[in-house]
Amino acid sequence: MILNILKYPDKRLRTIAKPVVRVNKTIKQQVKDMFETMYEATGIGLAATQVNFHQRIIVIDISDQYNEPICLINPEIIEESGEIQCEEGCLSVPDYYEIVVRANDIKVKALNQNGESFELEASEMLSVCIQHEIDHLNGILFVDHLSKLKQKRLKKQTAKKAKIL
Ligand code: NI
Repeated sequence: MILNILKYPDKRLRTIAKPVVRVNKTIKQQVKDMFETMYEATGIGLAATQVNFHQRIIVIDISDQYNEPICLINPEIIEESGEIQCEEGCLSVPDYYEIVVRANDIKVKALNQNGESFELEASEMLSVCIQHEIDHLNGILFVDHLSKLKQKRLKKQTAKKAKIL
């Protein structure tokens, strides 16, 4: 099922997601729906927060063929190093792209969609994507990392757009 993606500045995007207690049928269905929604929107990552489901789930697929799905439940960054500047976008902030500075290398611990614990080492694009999605689970958007001036401009832009639509 395709889910509705919340758009900035929707306040629900500021909700802090709760840990998943058990990877049961409901959670598995949620993961399935989130992949479907992300692929349909041609995104490379989606956090549960963005579809108004406030438990700690993210789905990612940065491959060109869309055949390398990664699901992280209750993800936790346990190591990080280096620095990368990457132009980011977000399905919740349409048509807006800006450079954000993040850690280049991370090690993340999570559960997969079967509830099994695993660790993943990521760098560059995958690392950036995981950090961006974990931010969502904490109610943080990539635009929060930008200068106050840029944030102000974005707010004005989206207000204008809202009037047109
Ligand atoms: Ni995003």
